[in-house]
Amino acid sequence: MRGGLICFSNFEFVRCSFIKRILLATLIGIGPSAFAGSVWLSSLDLKQMTTGWSVAKADHGIMGTPLSIHGEKFTHGVGTHANSEFRVQLEGNAKRFTAQVGVDDSAGHQGSVEFIVTGDGKMLWRSGVLKGGEAAKLVDVNLAGVQMLVLRVTDGGDGENNDHADWADAKIEMRDGVPPPVALSPYEMFNLGTKNFAMTFQVGDDSRLYQRPIGADDPKAKLQRDEEFYPQAGDGYVWEPALQAVHADGNTSTALVYDGLIQTNESANIKLTCIRLHDLAYPFQVTLCFRTHYEEDVIEEWTEIRHQESGSVTLQRMASTSLLLTTNVYLTHFFGDWAKEMLYPITEKITPGIKILDSKLGVRADQYNNPSFILSLNGKATETNGEVLAGSLAWSGSFQLAFDDNNEGIRTLCGINPFGSTYHLKPGETFTTPTMIWVWSPNGLGDMSRKFHRWARDFGMRDGHKPRAVLLNNWEATGFDFDFNRIAGLFDPAKALGVELFLLDDGWFGNKYPRINDDAGLGDWQANPKRFPNGLAPLAAAAVEHGLRFGIWMEPEMVNPNSELFHKHPDWVICQPKRELELQRNQLVLDLTRPAVQTFEWNAIQSILSVPDITYAKWDCNRYLTQPGSLYLPPDRQSQLGIDYVRALYVLMDKTAKTFPDTELMLCSGGGGRVDYGALKYFHEFWPSDDTDPVARVPMQWDYSYFFPLMAIASHVTHWGNRPMHFACSVAMSARFGMDLDLTKLSAQDRAICAGAISAYKQIRDVTESGDLYRLEDPHNNFRGAVNFVSPGCSRAVVFVFQLNDGENVPVYPQGLDPAKKYTVHELNPAPGQPKMPQEGKTFTGEELMRDGTMPSCSKALEACVMELTSM
Ligand code: GLA
Repeated sequence: MRGGLICFSNFEFVRCSFIKRILLATLIGIGPSAFAGSVWLSSLDLKQMTTGWSVAKADHGIMGTPLSIHGEKFTHGVGTHANSEFRVQLEGNAKRFTAQVGVDDSAGHQGSVEFIVTGDGKMLWRSGVLKGGEAAKLVDVNLAGVQMLVLRVTDGGDGENNDHADWADAKIEMRDGVPPPVALSPYEMFNLGTKNFAMTFQVGDDSRLYQRPIGADDPKAKLQRDEEFYPQAGDGYVWEPALQAVHADGNTSTALVYDGLIQTNESANIKLTCIRLHDLAYPFQVTLCFRTHYEEDVIEEWTEIRHQESGSVTLQRMASTSLLLTTNVYLTHFFGDWAKEMLYPITEKITPGIKILDSKLGVRADQYNNPSFILSLNGKATETNGEVLAGSLAWSGSFQLAFDDNNEGIRTLCGINPFGSTYHLKPGETFTTPTMIWVWSPNGLGDMSRKFHRWARDFGMRDGHKPRAVLLNNWEATGFDFDFNRIAGLFDPAKALGVELFLLDDGWFGNKYPRINDDAGLGDWQANPKRFPNGLAPLAAAAVEHGLRFGIWMEPEMVNPNSELFHKHPDWVICQPKRELELQRNQLVLDLTRPAVQTFEWNAIQSILSVPDITYAKWDCNRYLTQPGSLYLPPDRQSQLGIDYVRALYVLMDKTAKTFPDTELMLCSGGGGRVDYGALKYFHEFWPSDDTDPVARVPMQWDYSYFFPLMAIASHVTHWGNRPMHFACSVAMSARFGMDLDLTKLSAQDRAICAGAISAYKQIRDVTESGDLYRLEDPHNNFRGAVNFVSPGCSRAVVFVFQLNDGENVPVYPQGLDPAKKYTVHELNPAPGQPKMPQEGKTFTGEELMRDGTMPSCSKALEACVMELTSM
């Protein structure tokens, strides 16, 4: 505590000043530290009490008549009118609050109200609805330790007419020798913030929660209804709501009022803030949760919904966030398709109306729209300038991102797609929405991404500080055409080149229906006896004998109709009865809402990953839902198949991560269908696209890097596009490096280039994996692209230049170096025949390098240059 401001570090209640408290205390004739005994509520500054009609009256009813409830008269007390709120600062100095409450007789047997007493955001007492003519109810509440007492009168859910409410005989009993209680300004305001970002909330006199739009600099006294936070459908709000619920009795409206908040310090840098709201007329509660990462300007936001109604409440919309911004906002989003993921950024000004980006694919987040986006305020942002807010929804199912511009402000509603997601919430059950991740920067896109990456390495992915092994995958090299000898034959050349980990892809399993093409075998997770007569263990052991780790591909959620599993359990698949089965890549999705399927998939995963020497796995998912029906779920739960599926999937992924903590996992979904932080937290990396053409990968990796650290983006050297080997290796080395080549068929020159790239990667991976990324030259519509990484402490940096077309040989300007440090410039694994860099081996200060740049060795299409800057 300092002064009159009760501070919880970065979370502050805006309260009246200490001086004001002393003045108030003096005005009512009591010294600030000389008080003892009881204080009549009516002796406090009642101007601070809000009322739905007229003004609060000391020792009288709202009509100016003596306080009277059910014929009983009271000398002391406060007459008010719903909706009414009174905030009293106690600073832990009070003992009790007592009163007799009810509807004042001046309402003439009309009116209905509810009295609510909260202390520090916790409900201490509520009267239930009291009607005109009913006897007074006694309030007697223990206030020990309470800092802030809030007395509220609601309209009982039926409007404010005749709601004359009396806090009769109301008094606060204080401890001896403490300052008196002080009435505070009616608008409770608080900031939820990080180092450079703040969301300002205000509790209105209708007790609803409001949010000052991000970017608004007009500190209005009272916020408008359009600025309600987490707006609900059906009770006055006419724009796109965050919450749409049908209550157990069929009422389609929800009206949430503010209860208070609870804050927990999870570490010196991280705080969890839970803002609690409840419905005025129903036992229905919503908790808005925010986990703030102070230094990184990251906020994780989600919502919890629960109720104790007589039957299920139907949730039709339940957004994770409903953040409000001012207008003049630009949205950058990404579209794509299979092998064309993150095609290019689309930047557009948000204009009045609703812009919706969504996915209806059920078991993966994206194939087309992407669940990550960037908002820039007051004009388009650049890498180094502009106020930027990046958002990413951590959900691997159908999502919706809606940007609702009503010409006064823009509301971002992100969460599970309301399409096909009606959820029947049982009494006592809590619905937790997916988490929305927000990252703010006042200094442009580069700063935003570096903060995002720091957060991701710590919280968004597994082992974000552990170096990644150089991987060789057989998929592009062999497809389905392999056996023990063909695979084992790859180990020697792999080891000779410097590879550390071998990944065996699709095609190793199936017995009666062998997986020799994509038409059969999914679901039958036994090693193909013809290809691997003794199972996988001898192959994994052979890899280890050759000094390689061994990894395996699996697609546990899927089944081919040509499989023993499907023949045994045709009812286990997701399908629509009475409709012809629709196959994608000849396969179907198993219904993970069915407990038997959960057990089956877990057993399959366990048996695969328990093979000795398997320490890596690629988890694939090669189709999405087109007929979202479950033969297991009852009719009223069909609509929540997608939600129940993704939740069951996360249980499976979590169990896998916990049971096999040393097994690294790659997240894959027919290319980049599951690039989201919902799943990534159980994985070490993701497969961004089946398109491995390095010319496509340069802009694609640039775009993914807005949201994901490069170490999470698997990048393999293949023959896609038939690009020069040096260019392909350089592009892959800038992310999580791997190869997907038949090493036995490489020319001597390409083999040398690959060996050089692997050795260079091992030298720099600590910088590219845990260093800060600076995006230097945007490859979109440009003849080249360039990025650099800087190690923690700035002692080393690595610069990548990718020449997409012929172009002028101009310097590249690294960023983020220590201006005072001296760096020696050295090209790693130079391409055969490319001229030496003019600055090769020379030393410059960081300031000189950043100001004057350094000339790369490349200037022609499909050349690349990787240089290391090492300080003395
Ligand atoms: C998906 C993946 C590929 C490969 C194949 C195997 O398409 O994206 O990398 O694993 O499946 O069937």
